[in-house]
Amino acid sequence: MFSKYKKPTPPKNSSAANAANTATPKVNIAPVAAAKSDEQRKSLMKSAPTKPASAAPMDKEKRRKERLAEIKLELHKSLLDNLNLSALETASEQELRSEINAIASESLEDLGIVLTRDERQTLSQDLFFEVTGLGPLETLLKDDGVNDILVNGPQQIFVERDGRLQLTDVTFKDEKHLLRIIDKIVSAVGRRVDESNPYVDARLADGSRFNAMVPPIAVDGSLVSIRKFKKDKLGIEELVNFGAFSEEMAAYLQAAVSTRLNVIVSGGTGSGKTTTLNALSSFIDDAERILTIEDTAELQLQQTHVGRMESRPPNVEGRGGVSQRDCLKNALRMRPDRIIVGETRGEEVIDMLQAMNTGHDGSMTTIHANSSRDAVSRLENMVAMSGIEMPIKAMRSQIASAVNLIVQASRLQDGSRRMTSITEVTGMEGDVISMQEVFRYQRVGLTPENKIIGHFTATGVRSHYSERFKLWGFDLPPAIFEPMVAE
Ligand SMILES: Nc1ncnc2c1ncn2[C@@H]1O[C@H](COP(=O)(O)OP(=O)(O)OP(=O)(O)O)[C@@H](O)[C@H]1O
Ligand SMILES: [Mg+2]
Repeated sequence: MFSKYKKPTPPKNSSAANAANTATPKVNIAPVAAAKSDEQRKSLMKSAPTKPASAAPMDKEKRRKERLAEIKLELHKSLLDNLNLSALETASEQELRSEINAIASESLEDLGIVLTRDERQTLSQDLFFEVTGLGPLETLLKDDGVNDILVNGPQQIFVERDGRLQLTDVTFKDEKHLLRIIDKIVSAVGRRVDESNPYVDARLADGSRFNAMVPPIAVDGSLVSIRKFKKDKLGIEELVNFGAFSEEMAAYLQAAVSTRLNVIVSGGTGSGKTTTLNALSSFIDDAERILTIEDTAELQLQQTHVGRMESRPPNVEGRGGVSQRDCLKNALRMRPDRIIVGETRGEEVIDMLQAMNTGHDGSMTTIHANSSRDAVSRLENMVAMSGIEMPIKAMRSQIASAVNLIVQASRLQDGSRRMTSITEVTGMEGDVISMQEVFRYQRVGLTPENKIIGHFTATGVRSHYSERFKLWGFDLPPAIFEPMVAE
């Protein structure tokens, strides 16, 4: 009855029969009548979080979920036994869904399991994702409101929505289930992850950035982090509309990028560095040849002439690695007008600074740092750690002449992401790199809902690059640089 997608000579109900032997016969999973609504449950948990009486409906709900997960696993095994996997590749989604439903119904019948309509629907959706995709992660990957997915072992999955982390009720059956999905992801990109090779970086088919670390290094179960790929990256206009920076700042940044200042976007983890870098790149002239270098290709440049490079870690035997530094050195031989390095985090800093100093003006990168001063210190540390012996003053003057602008991205405590400062590097004063802040985000208070109140303002200093802007035809109105007067 299962047409072309069923294996030609299936072991008649083999796994279903096995399952029936081990499973309790005739399990009836009816909805839990006493289940509390989410609101009621929350209030109960708040007032008496540890009392067993209040935990009872939770336990029942939990048991039911566990039982459903077990059934799903049995059915998944049965599906793998019964489906002709090679024929699957050419099946349409519709065909596949109805095939999965048919096999699942038959197995459920054999097992004597009765499910409600809703449970059946969830089950067949979950099975579809198990067979074709990344199991429990699939719904989160498809949810456009989710930016990050963070898995801490099989039972705890957090997501980031609107800049805030939230615990989801999505879980894996157990560590084995989680490992199977991790394995599916990394084997698809020709990598391996196991005890001897316990962490891996990869890119999902949809472009999302993926990192996993498995036991024993991950102590309580595998750790997975996914930065979802956004097809439509936020552009300058959207960022201004979202309040990430002001129109005046956008006009200034346009002048800075167009006149080929070297820009560093600095920020903490997930603060919007890559998004900002991507948005800034839209100011680059379409006639220029841009080379991008990243560990995981995330940037989406709109220009026609773009060459993209992605570094590669060494394989299991320790061979074949291509570092960002290798890519950068090679890029310099590829006649770039501009070089964009996704994130500078190590030895490639030397080549990046050299490129910025030697005719590749207008290059850009991001760096992990909490302020512009901090960004400069990080650059110094990276140079020092790369093994190049250089007097501190020489190192600083190299940095000062390479970097023109530091743009600070921040994720504030209310989850909002803003450009909290734009700082110009103006040169050296003695042994110190001199800098001046041109724009900043001024916080003034908090709303009762803990939303930050504040505004962007110029600091009142005249841009060090005004002449340059003028020469290149960007005559910015002086009003842009006037500080906002408090009302
Ligand atoms: N101003 C903004 N408003 C709303 N969402 C934003 C904003 N800037 C960035 N985001 C979203 O926040 C998430 C993190 O952004 P992004 O990848 O740019 O951060 P990052 O600093 O590069 O992170 P990492 O340190 O992990 O590389 C993305 O999903 C992005 O779409
Ligand atoms: Mg990034």
